[in-house]
Amino acid sequence: MSSVNNSRGNWSSKLGFVLAAAGSAIGLGNIWGFPTQTGLNGGAVFVFVYLICVLIVGIPVMVAEFTIGRAARNDPVGSFKALVPGSAWKYVGVLGVVTGLVILSYYSVVAGWTLKYLWRTLTEGATPHSAAQIAEQFESFTAGGIGPLFFHLVFMALTIWVVTGGIEGGIEKATTVLMPVLFGLLLLLVLRSVTLPGAAEGVSFYLKPDFGKISGDVVLAAMGQAFFSLSLGMGAMITYGSYLPQKEDLFSSAVYVSLSDLLIAFLAGFAIFPALFTVPGLRPDQGPSLIFLVLPNIFSQIPLGQIFGAAFYLLLAIAALTSSISLLEVVVAYFIDQKGWPRRRAALVVGSAAFVLGIPSAFSQGYLPLFAGFLEQADFLFGKVALMVGGLLICLFVGYRWGIAAAVEEIRRSNPRFRWRSVWAVLVRFVCPLAIAVLLVDRILGLFRS
Ligand code: PHE
Repeated sequence: MSSVNNSRGNWSSKLGFVLAAAGSAIGLGNIWGFPTQTGLNGGAVFVFVYLICVLIVGIPVMVAEFTIGRAARNDPVGSFKALVPGSAWKYVGVLGVVTGLVILSYYSVVAGWTLKYLWRTLTEGATPHSAAQIAEQFESFTAGGIGPLFFHLVFMALTIWVVTGGIEGGIEKATTVLMPVLFGLLLLLVLRSVTLPGAAEGVSFYLKPDFGKISGDVVLAAMGQAFFSLSLGMGAMITYGSYLPQKEDLFSSAVYVSLSDLLIAFLAGFAIFPALFTVPGLRPDQGPSLIFLVLPNIFSQIPLGQIFGAAFYLLLAIAALTSSISLLEVVVAYFIDQKGWPRRRAALVVGSAAFVLGIPSAFSQGYLPLFAGFLEQADFLFGKVALMVGGLLICLFVGYRWGIAAAVEEIRRSNPRFRWRSVWAVLVRFVCPLAIAVLLVDRILGLFRS
């Protein structure tokens, strides 16, 4: 067994691991999802509530996932099997693997849209278009069938290529190069945005909370966003933790990863809202179209818009890639560890399956009426409900079945002076499960309300 596990691959350093896990966390969820949710949920107040959710739910659950993975050194299914042999807990891992496959299938479709927009910005430049033309372009592209399918294919192929390279040579190498590039591009955009004439209004929308706007819905939206954005609840962090050498500290890693994720989401909002408020007639509560409709509009109206526009879509595509490789890795790790497949075969077969599964999503924006709304429904069921269920079960597993004592022993292997035991235990056993359960019930009731 141990010889099998030694050949699984490892991160070469703690920095490599933190960058890869941050790469998983930082994705469309940060740069697309976070500003969209902030715009819809009252601006600064959402940013504030989100911060609280990351601190009291996000970080503790991430520590739990890293700990499970490193203690068991296995894929999500194998991890539960190894820690409590012969129990039904392994189905939490199965749920994670299935969730990863489905999220990957539609994530790659949306990531494909970002490639298309990168291509379009580079080739067509920032020719001024009216808002109506931009909206029409977006609709005719996403509803077009073949275009979205082609870019979905290109994106999936890139993902497969990186994962085929393995842990150190593929994922770690790609993320260590891509993450700093992403950070640099984002800073550039923030600078451009806040120096535009008239940016102050957007800055104040984003930073001055109106606490009168806090509501149950805002809190629930923030929590759901935190889960997706931190890649929690489906074993991505269990899988990444399983390649972490025993000497590296789990707790500080989780803190670094969560805070980088938070920082990038925060900067993404900073790049978008100040610019948005400088264009008359644009509103922050556009919903999901914010990135594809509002931004091209902004880019077509600001100096050097083509360069900033291309930088933005490149950034988005990079962020999406470092996340999609983690989605694929979860399923690939399952086939390597549980079924003994070679990595290459696992990456190819699973990636192709995710491509096929993504076809209805690629056709879901109007091309084939049969698939209308497919992407949104898959995202609701898997990107929201399934992640919550997984996260809840992971807390219950660590809090009550495997046990806080065993988990803390694993954490102390690399950090003998770990001082957060009691705080973490209270969060994992009571606060997080309760908060997630409330969110879940709300999501499910929401189904009947709409
Ligand atoms: N966290 C990624 C994002 O923000 C998405 C993701 C979710 C990746 C779950 C892996 C697991 O885009």
